[in-house]
Amino acid sequence: MQSFLEVADGKRALTEGEKSWVADVREMAYNVEDIIDEFMYRMRREQSGGRLTRLFYKTIHFPKNLWVRHRIATKLQKIKRMIKDIPERSQRYGVDHIEGTSTCHDDQKRWVQNHGESSLFVKDEDLVGIEDDRQLLVRWLTDGEPQRAVISVVGMGGSGKTTLVAKAYKCETVERHFNCCAWITVSQTYDIEDLLRSMIKEFYLATKEKEAVPIDLSTMRYKQLLEILVNYLRPKRYVVVLDDVWSGDLWRDLNVSLPDERNGSRVMLTTRNGDIGSSSFGVKSHVHHLQPLGKKEAWGLFCMKAFSSSSPNRSCPQELKIIALELVEKCKGLPLAIVALGGLMSSKSLESEWSRVCNSLNWHLSNNTELDRMKTILLLSFNDLSYRLKRCFLYCCLFPEDFLIRRKRLIRLWMAEGFVEKIKGITPEEVAEDCLMQLVCRNMLQVVERNPAGRPKSCKMHDLMRELALSTSETEKFCAVYDGQEEASEESTARRLSVQTSD
Ligand SMILES: Nc1ncnc2c1ncn2[C@@H]1O[C@H](COP(=O)(O)OP(=O)(O)OP(=O)(O)O)[C@@H](O)[C@H]1O
Ligand SMILES: [Mg+2]
Repeated sequence: MQSFLEVADGKRALTEGEKSWVADVREMAYNVEDIIDEFMYRMRREQSGGRLTRLFYKTIHFPKNLWVRHRIATKLQKIKRMIKDIPERSQRYGVDHIEGTSTCHDDQKRWVQNHGESSLFVKDEDLVGIEDDRQLLVRWLTDGEPQRAVISVVGMGGSGKTTLVAKAYKCETVERHFNCCAWITVSQTYDIEDLLRSMIKEFYLATKEKEAVPIDLSTMRYKQLLEILVNYLRPKRYVVVLDDVWSGDLWRDLNVSLPDERNGSRVMLTTRNGDIGSSSFGVKSHVHHLQPLGKKEAWGLFCMKAFSSSSPNRSCPQELKIIALELVEKCKGLPLAIVALGGLMSSKSLESEWSRVCNSLNWHLSNNTELDRMKTILLLSFNDLSYRLKRCFLYCCLFPEDFLIRRKRLIRLWMAEGFVEKIKGITPEEVAEDCLMQLVCRNMLQVVERNPAGRPKSCKMHDLMRELALSTSETEKFCAVYDGQEEASEESTARRLSVQTSD
């Protein structure tokens, strides 16, 4: 069952029938887990203590144990019947194997890519708090160091990586400094030959002379493409941007195609994964971790988006100020969220409408296109996790908003839940710590405190990430959280329950 669930989890775009089949199997797996848990608990009690104690315990509790075993056996029989029923039911409704594709829908994929590329064209006047970071990148690009260097910009989804890199890439100093340049959007799934083709086209077209792109590019294979690219780049000082990198293998694939002739060429990449950003690539590298927008900048950006039509100087009307500040606070400095929320509020002018949104801003429940799009973008990070990491991540939403989660405690809890894989020669604590580090590197958990050796001591979840985790947890019945804001549903059959009160 576990393997089935893992396979189904890797597939996106399941039909409704398939989804309900997966939900049935998940429910069943939970039930089986419960029975095993109960059985183990009883067995351990019988086996604990010395020989005499065990004998005494067994004799005294014999009738009760008999009854318990009978109860467990009945439950098992019932489960066996239900397990037999599942495939029958699936066949009856015409779903007998999971067909979903392993990635998201094609149109969704295209939309995500378009969205990423649109960040290349954000106007200067629409940007806030970018100047210092931009100057730093420009300095790294043009510092005159002859060896080819890699510059990585790392940050969570929607933190403004593409926007920042685009601003540095398109500035005049950089354009003048390099002989040729190319911007490549990589994304989660890529084909190396297609990347090489795009790169050749970009390099050829971006030159001032607009050289003619070799016509038979589409029929060329890897070796020929490589040859063209290397021959083209060798005498030149080039800059190439690899936007939205998800896999560390990319560099291995592309390294040979980007020659280092010690003429000051640069490769710039953006990624959500700090591991990729900080791998040294065997060359000189700089890493820039993007920070959330400060309060002032976040406010400025929100006002710009929310009040552009209603007030000429884009300022917030006095009566809306308190609510607006509260809304901005919820975005925790994430530009993507601020822009989405600002866009949503720009169509609302009444104070009552604003308070309604603010009070019901349960991101995961809202049915709004702008916010849906934001969710899609943030969900990419979640979908990229392995089955185990997904469970570790979802578990973190059981803690209240803004809660400081201690590393040691979290690791123990994950172990107790059975999320941690057994690996020979490594202690479960080390495996769990590795899971934590992976979530941190992928910017899905944020480190708040570190010990003197630089190891995370406590971390927390970004509000929006937590909302997404909550929404997935609810559909998968992984857990439910009651914080007094919503009516507790009596039918909820979630596996874990977190009850949070403020007093
Ligand atoms: N400094 C900024 N000022 C104003 N708007 C910004 C800023 N940074 C980003 N944005 C806006 O936030 C949105 C997301 O930005 P961007 O696409 O650059 O994020 P990203 O980190 O590249 O996301 P992803 O990880 O999905 O690639 C865009 O709509 C962009 O216009
Ligand atoms: Mg991007």
